[in-house]
Amino acid sequence: MKLFIDTANIEHIRIASKWGCIKGVTTNPSLIAKEGRNLLDVIKEIVTLIDGPISAEVQEASVEAMVAEGQSLAKLHKNIVIKIPMTMDGIAAVSQLSKLGIKTNVTLVFSVPQALLACEAGATYISPFMGRVDDMGDSGVELIEKIMTTITNYGYETEVIAASIRNLAHVEQAALAGADIATIPFAVLQSMVNHPLTAAGLQIFRDAAKK
Ligand code: E4P
Repeated sequence: MKLFIDTANIEHIRIASKWGCIKGVTTNPSLIAKEGRNLLDVIKEIVTLIDGPISAEVQEASVEAMVAEGQSLAKLHKNIVIKIPMTMDGIAAVSQLSKLGIKTNVTLVFSVPQALLACEAGATYISPFMGRVDDMGDSGVELIEKIMTTITNYGYETEVIAASIRNLAHVEQAALAGADIATIPFAVLQSMVNHPLTAAGLQIFRDAAKK
């Protein structure tokens, strides 16, 4: 499973870029707003740090407006992926951008029927939101599993980005469900290296090395 970082924080992306295991970045309007910056400035910096798919989200608008914004964002850098909300206009925009050879990521996916629409429209990626599904008392991992089965059944080329990841359990569940990618917040990425037995084992080796 490829690991993306889910943030618009340049310092966090800079640190994660040095780990060598982060293959892409996802942003959304909330993450951009949290940094108090505008989308274009943030995206222009991110593309210099990670050489992989960078999702930049368009404003929800008419099909024509989303296609135009997508085309203009895609011109910024070859790695830009146009993130588009799951609406019928969004699906139409995905279909048009796909025909223009522009990569897309359909976001706010919460069901198999939504995933089917995005796959049939030619989405490069879809982002089912694990955490938000769990928050409402349903199962985020079941959603990923059902979407993976659908994609396998029909041989779609669309890749699944497990999104809205909140903890290590989500990372593990996404991997076991066969998600192609997990997009993970910085703090959760950092915590992936930790295990109490690793810490205890390191201490034992350090003590032995001193002797
Ligand atoms: C990524 O593509 C999503 O926008 C993000 O993972 C949403 O996460 P949240 O549910 O924690 O806001």
